[in-house]
Amino acid sequence: MTAELLRRRPLRIVGFASGRGSNFGALIAAQREQALPVELCALLSDRGDAAALAVARQAGVEAIAMRPHDHADRSAFDRAIFDRAAQFLPDLIVLAGYMRIIDPGVVAAWQGRMINIHPSLLPNHRGLHTHRRALEAGDREHGASVHYVTAELDGGPTIAQAAIPIRAGDTPEALAARLLPQEHRLLVASVALIASGRVAMAGSGIVFDEAPLAAPLRLGADGSLA
Ligand code: GRF
Repeated sequence: MTAELLRRRPLRIVGFASGRGSNFGALIAAQREQALPVELCALLSDRGDAAALAVARQAGVEAIAMRPHDHADRSAFDRAIFDRAAQFLPDLIVLAGYMRIIDPGVVAAWQGRMINIHPSLLPNHRGLHTHRRALEAGDREHGASVHYVTAELDGGPTIAQAAIPIRAGDTPEALAARLLPQEHRLLVASVALIASGRVAMAGSGIVFDEAPLAAPLRLGADGSLA
């Protein structure tokens, strides 16, 4: 898919989520407000009880749950759910709270066409419990990152970050709640840059406005990335 072709039709997106679905909901809201020129084709989940499924359905987006236990092993499930996603011919897969480690072979097949939102300022605090770990580390700043997915967990090149200060007395819950609206803006702005063709993965790095991106873009107070 050439950048030229991408610009001619809306970017086709399939979302993956395991839980609440507020990040996918932010994409739906932005797309409805005509602030995001994309087509949200489907939301796939590994959990039949994920609230994200209802978020999608209420917006008229096809929502599909697939059970890992119905498959022989982890990689068979990953192949099956990504084959289902592929039927929607997505240009981009957005992992928005998808809580599974994906088979490296499947990741390789989608490299450059799959992003994830992670609630930390990567490379700090890969993996789980990021809010608690940021507090325990004595960080003064916390945040979220949108990155391309590679075989290295939370280790692919980062497109953009949103940062918030850590305040005295913050709890993991308070931090998570304060970060969430920034995550939503960050994800929407990052997807918008991909949809416009201004951001793409190239080799093991990122190209932004046709030049290598030396450091992740930062979300500004006006919701734009620079
Ligand atoms: C978000 O904090 C996201 O960064 C992380 O999982 C959470 C998902 O929240 N990967 P939601 O399901 O989008 O509400």
